[in-house]
Amino acid sequence: MKIKNICCIGAGYVGGPTMAVIALKCKDILVNVVDINLERINAWNNKDLTMLPIYEPGLDQIIKKCRNKNLFFSNDLNTGIKNADMIFISVNTPTKSQGIGAGEASDLRWIELSARQIAENSTGHTIVVEKSTLPVRTAETIKNILESQNKTGKNKGETTFSVLSNPEFLAEGTAINNLINPDRVLIGGDDDVAIDKLGSIYERWINPKKIIKTNLWSSELSKLTANAFLAQRVSSINSISAICESSGANIKEVTKAIGMDSRIGANFLQSGPGFGGSCFKKDILNIIYLCNFYGLNEVADYWSSVLKINRWQQKRISKTIIEKLFNTIAGKKISILGFAYKANTNDTRESPAISIAKDLLNEDALLAIYDPKVSAKQITKDLDSKQLNEKQIFNKNSGWYLSKSINETFNGADAIIILTDWEEFKKLNLKEISNLMRKPAWIFDTRNLIDLEKEDLYGINIWSLGNT
Ligand code: NAD
Ligand code: UDX
Repeated sequence: MKIKNICCIGAGYVGGPTMAVIALKCKDILVNVVDINLERINAWNNKDLTMLPIYEPGLDQIIKKCRNKNLFFSNDLNTGIKNADMIFISVNTPTKSQGIGAGEASDLRWIELSARQIAENSTGHTIVVEKSTLPVRTAETIKNILESQNKTGKNKGETTFSVLSNPEFLAEGTAINNLINPDRVLIGGDDDVAIDKLGSIYERWINPKKIIKTNLWSSELSKLTANAFLAQRVSSINSISAICESSGANIKEVTKAIGMDSRIGANFLQSGPGFGGSCFKKDILNIIYLCNFYGLNEVADYWSSVLKINRWQQKRISKTIIEKLFNTIAGKKISILGFAYKANTNDTRESPAISIAKDLLNEDALLAIYDPKVSAKQITKDLDSKQLNEKQIFNKNSGWYLSKSINETFNGADAIIILTDWEEFKKLNLKEISNLMRKPAWIFDTRNLIDLEKEDLYGINIWSLGNT
């Protein structure tokens, strides 16, 4: 039987774009994306495409083409599940904040809830696909819940399930391109018929040679490993950026020299304020938990050091800023360029900007934040403090506010900190900026966006990561 109806539980950064691309490429399949968060569903259904809940280049055009044709967003989980031949689970799997494994293990409550909802509402045979990133052997838990319901639940003996792992490798900001032209698609499972059915969906637009089939546990572990390796590269190059600053080497030159070695490769070698995003830290913590569980303590320590360098990189940036500004930033206006953890997304989860801004606020600075896509509501949540009103800003009270324009942030500022690699920060007019800032003025460029060889700094001091 061909797959005609897909349901995706979870309308987030993975569920939304992934299902939009499946709907775009498979016009004959009805795709229902369901979520318990009504506000998010309403935003997905908003006629104004600038109000979609996530910003991802190219996504709005796909939504425009497919929404309410073969792509639907709803909070009616039961109906979505009941009608589906194939159900993707794309719910969040954050690190546990309390209880056994707190700070390391994934919190699987939303996965379990989804499995129970599927068990209660599905009919006939259903292929259940793990799209969320999960600890190794989670598929066993999902199978267990589904099978128990079949023995005792309301549809007793009438429902059957196949569970597959199909981790997602998209990166935010490039998600649509990653989904349309993936390096590979990974499907783990032991039911060949189900694997072929899922594979045949991807084969509509992806070369079958790129579709890899493995057992369930290899698939789950491969996803964690890919993220751990990527994060490790970022920590490695960030550790070298500190050596550059101390030794007189230049990080851009070192990166170019090592990146040209085909065994190392040039990608993912950009030093910066540390990796953010909802995945790297969480997935490494997951590996650490797994290692400790299996008694592999040395392996756990190895991966812990990747996280340690990431924290240290953020702390040393805050410390450098305070030191360069005469060890006091109380009442000083500091322009923060970028709050998202990377360019082309409105996502701020684990953004280095959060910890750096908090460090500066602890020293009583006045932060003028500018980000083209992040809302004041999100920053309020992240910094756990309300933005200042106009009178407080005028009086240079300590706190933060979201600037409406980038130029406003420079007005009277003592320092600019470039934290996100947004395209528009690569074209700053330093002459104009120098006229607006209070002297001595500083730029802290944590992304190496300003070309020190070519740019005239018009009297502004610069600290560029990985340079003396
Ligand atoms: P997200 O927080 O943006 O979205 C998850 C959604 O699931 C939320 O809207 C939430 O309301 C919904 N949800 C939770 N429980 C539910 C339930 N029982 N029923 C219906 N809806 C429910 O998360 P995300 O960034 O999309 O990540 C989802 C998963 O994909 C995670 O496991 C993550 O590790 C993985 N992943 C994320 C990325 C990424 O770039 N964000 C990339 C690859 C993999
Ligand atoms: C990551 C993985 O790349 C993706 O495959 C997985 O599915 C989800 O997690 P994402 O977190 O969205 O994707 O973005 P990514 O491009 O990997 O960047 C993660 C962080 O590392 C960002 O904060 C980014 O600024 C930083 N980074 C990345 C660097 O500092 N230097 C680099 O060279 C690359």
